[in-house]
Amino acid sequence: MCGIIGYIGNKEIIPVLLKGLRCLEYRGYDSTGIAIHKGENLNVVKSVGKLSNLEEVLKKEHLLNGANGKNGKNGKSGHVSCGIGHTRWATHGEPSDINAHPHFDSDEKIAVVHNGIIRNYQEVRDSLIQKGYKFATETDTEVVVQLISYNFKETNSILKSIFKSVNELEGSYALGILFKQEPDKIYAVRREAPLVIGIGSGENYLASDSATVSQFVEKIIRLEDNEIAEISKENINFYNLKGEILKKEIQTVTRSKDILDKRGFKHYLAKEINEQAEVVSNLLKDFLPSHEKPIQFNHLKLTPDFLKTIDRILILACGTAYHAGLVGKYVFENLTSIPTEVQFASEYLNSKPLLTEKSLVIGISQSGETADTLAAVKKAISKGATFVGITNKQDSALADLAKEHLLISKAGLEVSVAATKTFLAQMTVLYMLAIYIAETIDSSNPKKLSLVKQELRLIPQLIDQTLTRQEHYQKQVLQYANNPDFVFIGRGINYPIALEAALKLKELSYIHASGYASGEMKHGPIAVLDTKVPVVSIIVPGETYDRVFQNSLEAKSRQAPMIAVAVDGDKKVESIFDTILRIPPITELISPFLTVIPLQFLSYYIAEHLGRDVDQPRNLAKSVTVE
Ligand code: M6R
Repeated sequence: MCGIIGYIGNKEIIPVLLKGLRCLEYRGYDSTGIAIHKGENLNVVKSVGKLSNLEEVLKKEHLLNGANGKNGKNGKSGHVSCGIGHTRWATHGEPSDINAHPHFDSDEKIAVVHNGIIRNYQEVRDSLIQKGYKFATETDTEVVVQLISYNFKETNSILKSIFKSVNELEGSYALGILFKQEPDKIYAVRREAPLVIGIGSGENYLASDSATVSQFVEKIIRLEDNEIAEISKENINFYNLKGEILKKEIQTVTRSKDILDKRGFKHYLAKEINEQAEVVSNLLKDFLPSHEKPIQFNHLKLTPDFLKTIDRILILACGTAYHAGLVGKYVFENLTSIPTEVQFASEYLNSKPLLTEKSLVIGISQSGETADTLAAVKKAISKGATFVGITNKQDSALADLAKEHLLISKAGLEVSVAATKTFLAQMTVLYMLAIYIAETIDSSNPKKLSLVKQELRLIPQLIDQTLTRQEHYQKQVLQYANNPDFVFIGRGINYPIALEAALKLKELSYIHASGYASGEMKHGPIAVLDTKVPVVSIIVPGETYDRVFQNSLEAKSRQAPMIAVAVDGDKKVESIFDTILRIPPITELISPFLTVIPLQFLSYYIAEHLGRDVDQPRNLAKSVTVE
């Protein structure tokens, strides 16, 4: 969950590194830093906080001019520029200037940027201390650079020092390395953390994701686990851990001039919420071109024989993806009658896996990089279960694990740390998969399936209609911005939406919020209610309506301010709710596509009103690559 960038070529180095870091800031924003060759030496500049802080430091040091972003003294055109950069989400050691990457060895001859975790860092550190090494920081990364330095002194070979060090380091990590004595090379290592090389003409790039590289070039090479790259301006050599040369395949990605365009919105979050109709529509075009035909999942290599014998479905995910999984549970059980369980990936790691070869495991992860999800999925696969991966990132570890059972949720890049459009995309894919399985195993009434498909095809336009109400939602919710606690309640398929709404409000506004199954309120949580704790009920016509209404009455009788998400034309809600966030009429089974939207806006507008950093909330990062 840190971001790595590297460049070697004739461009001015600092603007390139800054542009890359800007694209990677979603991966962590506790600190940023760069290392470049300057004269005979390696020059490291770093700063706690966001990229803008680093830019200020670079300007003060006359390494970056003002508005045009051009270099001061470095990287004159015509010279080979070579540098690495990093944006950090702190794991070992607090966010600070000193703990920021790149890290130097004691002799300042090697600089390293690192994403991931060195599991045996304490052991390696202790052994280096015994050999006389001194450590300046609390990070596991400094252990990496000092170990390379030690092995370099032992072997007198750059490559050997890297091979040896990587063989000694345990964990999941990606590295970018510069050696003072080799001003025209970057070394890169990948082990279970993403790293991509972008190939240009007379220049090469290194980055944690392909979207960043696609800003500059369209030819890429993905490093695989336990591979090492030696990158120069014109050439790249690849090695395995034994030092054997590898041949790698070049892939082409779509060149994307500005992946960070906000398209006129004030925040990425607002842009991404507003893209949701388009995202769902694109997925439906692919999978469900007509409600009269079966769902198309041509690339999913699950045989009808296997689908007909599935004994249970287990969904593994974290955070918002877990909530999408909970919605999926209702849909799978409703349409396929296959028992479905959803577990937090992190909890699954501690549980006894009750899987058979007839079990289907679905792992959901927007980033495809979440360490908990990857570890849980590997555990499930090792028990013989068939694994289907749902991710927004084709070039991710989850996609690699899924191989031919991969479903890409195609939401496009989601920059804002809080997940919104990828949640709707994940739900869409889960509905499609449930219908596909139901159709294949013939378990559901065909008329019912046809009706669900018909209704799903209308979802994009209903989302559009809901989005047109955003200014109204804004006016309705701001009166609650100073309440210190919120409770969200829902039942059945909208219980996960209550959980998702509470998560969104917490991460965006830092207001404490909880989501409950509405029937659970009276078993304890109702004790927290008073005039300062708004209760938000998700109440849509269908099987759960009367019970949610009853539970809302119970909350009202405790003087809680009452907010509803309810459909147009529902007059009954007016009798108990102070504020009603209206959505277009919708069937309960597909209602999560709409009920979540006013709640995304509730969190967004309250956070914005409170002056929060909407796109990069404190303490968070977009992908969580530590367990
Ligand atoms: O990349 P993933 O979908 O695996 O991420 C899982 C969670 O970390 C993520 O959904 C997180 O909860 C978001 N910040 C929610 O907005």
